[in-house]
Amino acid sequence: MTNHQDDHSRRSVIAGGLGVASAALLASGRGPSALARPAEPIAQPEALKVAPGDDIRCGIIGVGGRGTGVLEAINHVPGVRVTAICDIDEAKTKAAAAKVAADQPRLFKDYKELVSFSPIDAIFVETPCYLHAEMVVEVMKSGRHCYGEKPMALSVADVERVVQAVEASRRVYQVGTQLPYAAPWFGAIKAVNEGAIGKPILIRAHRMNGGDLPHHIPWFFDRKQCGDIILEQAVHEFDIFNALLQDIPEQACGFGGQAMMFKPAGRNIRDHYALVFDYGKDRKVAYSHAYISVPNVPCDGRSEFVYGTGGVVDVEYGMIYPRDGKPRKVEEEPKGDSTQLAVNHFFECVRNSRRPLTDVTRGRNGALVALLGLKALDTGRTVTMKELLSQGYSA
Ligand SMILES: NC(=O)c1ccc[n+]([C@@H]2O[C@H](COP(=O)([O-])OP(=O)(O)OC[C@H]3O[C@@H](n4cnc5c(N)ncnc54)[C@H](O)[C@@H]3O)[C@@H](O)[C@H]2O)c1
Repeated sequence: MTNHQDDHSRRSVIAGGLGVASAALLASGRGPSALARPAEPIAQPEALKVAPGDDIRCGIIGVGGRGTGVLEAINHVPGVRVTAICDIDEAKTKAAAAKVAADQPRLFKDYKELVSFSPIDAIFVETPCYLHAEMVVEVMKSGRHCYGEKPMALSVADVERVVQAVEASRRVYQVGTQLPYAAPWFGAIKAVNEGAIGKPILIRAHRMNGGDLPHHIPWFFDRKQCGDIILEQAVHEFDIFNALLQDIPEQACGFGGQAMMFKPAGRNIRDHYALVFDYGKDRKVAYSHAYISVPNVPCDGRSEFVYGTGGVVDVEYGMIYPRDGKPRKVEEEPKGDSTQLAVNHFFECVRNSRRPLTDVTRGRNGALVALLGLKALDTGRTVTMKELLSQGYSA
């Protein structure tokens, strides 16, 4: 189905010199402690490194729902101080500052002023999706490390802009897909990568929401600002599929629409869709995602089952069902909140000049899969990764 040239260009997207490190980490069997020792060092300029024993000073842009949660996680990390907070909403900035009052952060309304404020080593970007690419590029250009919320960007061109800025910076960039840092996702990915179910063939997955997105936050309902639910939300699952299969899809097809969710007024995002991703070599993902359910329906929420030649892995419940043998749990480490673990990992990488597990390549690959799916849904036809990369696409 794919010629050699297609396969080569797709593979360079997967690897990019970096994704290989992440895949190798997961496949290495070194267990959860490997999270603290990612495979690849970053050649940071010596003069810019945080000296051992010094606090890491960080800034945060956007302290809404997610930013506040991430701020609390930052506040739990020893040896880290929050020296700057930015939000266009002053009430939010003040509420966030109160949570880290001991650090006496400087408060900003304009993110560019925060980026040029000097006592900062690392910056968290926690703003709405349409602002991620622009802000992350500014942060990387300023020579700071960056933890950037998912999705990395809302267009192929912006994904590439971020990748180039990160690569040129020689600083740490971690994308905010936190699930693979914690049990059960870490152990489930590791089990599949190590062959616990032989060759994976089919992933059956969904995310069915019984409630709705927060109606008081307009950007969630504007496709241009959120990237539709596929970029805003499903990118978590796409990162997991890519990690499970250690690859990215060759092509995608699917259908979806906006059938019943029209409030708040002006809402222009899909409320349901179903996609099939073809990863080549007899590997497929069937994924559905919707906001049309009702609360408390059994099996709703997020679900990923991996069916392979040697059995089945239920990712969300962390169970292996071998074709021959008794069901067993996947490795149950690392325990704890996935956001806290991801934030801890980011600071470990900053201190030790290491590439994070969810590095720029994983961020890029997750966003590209979402853009591939989005284009397939928009056009109603099969779209190849080769076409996406050569023609570009934007939410
Ligand atoms: N990783 C996860 O599990 C997870 C969970 C929820 C949300 N998110 C992501 O986090 C991001 C924020 O989502 P949220 O739910 O916190 O939304 P939110 O609307 O609650 O917060 C966004 C904040 O950014 C501020 N903001 C907007 N424009 C700004 C600007 N130009 N400069 C500075 N601040 C600005 C807003 O005032 C708001 O306080 C989104 O990208 C979302 O997809 C990730």
